[in-house]
Amino acid sequence: PATDDLAGRHVVVSAGGTREPLDPVRFLGNRSSGKQGYAVAAEAARRGARVTLVSANVALPTPPGCEAVQVGTALELQEAVEAAVDAGDVDVVVMVAAVADFRPAHYAQSKIKKTHGEGDESAPVIELVRNPDILAGLVQDRAGAGRPFIVGFAAETGDGTGDVLELARDKLQRKGCDLLVANEVGVDKAFGQDTSTVHLLRPDSQEAVTVGPATKDVIATAIWDVVAAELG
Ligand code: C5P
Repeated sequence: PATDDLAGRHVVVSAGGTREPLDPVRFLGNRSSGKQGYAVAAEAARRGARVTLVSANVALPTPPGCEAVQVGTALELQEAVEAAVDAGDVDVVVMVAAVADFRPAHYAQSKIKKTHGEGDESAPVIELVRNPDILAGLVQDRAGAGRPFIVGFAAETGDGTGDVLELARDKLQRKGCDLLVANEVGVDKAFGQDTSTVHLLRPDSQEAVTVGPATKDVIATAIWDVVAAELG
């Protein structure tokens, strides 16, 4: 059924996966397709929200009614999300993007080459540095304001549901967000697939709401049902 329960709201959704450049031709990346984030953005627009979609390396058309901001790296994604939030009218942030936890410490201006000495099998050691935790930063920055409502995702590679839920509950605590969407990932699970199973966890409830196996559209609807109810 058509609903406009997000009318008048401004939501920011991050989607896709960041790429951290190593040299002009290489990057450290991840398997995120952007499908779940785009489904979350599309559903918010359908329900009447103004949507800023911060998109990292996604090969999908921008959903109707969404304003897309293209980013590449974690630092660019942070800048785009924070700029939107700093403008002051954001009601909800949904961090669906797979953000690299680390980036190469040094960017090589020209392509890193093999060396060619007799019997030389040496390989470079790539030093990494931490990226900021954007989600945790958003939670810290809103300090008591209670707004925006912040949703995190957790892609866990547990080997049983209990395991995934336990890790997710820990993560919810650590990050301090208002809703955590946990999904089990593996080589052929979730990433790039059209369906997945997720668990929705809230800080004030021991119960997790499980959705799926379901399409990413159905999962997006379930997420907004919970968020819209929380916004009142
Ligand atoms: O800790 P983990 O990477 O599993 O947390 C996932 C959640 O945190 C996602 O919502 C992701 O968008 C967000 N994240 C972030 N900044 C990072 C890493 C993850 O905002 N550097």
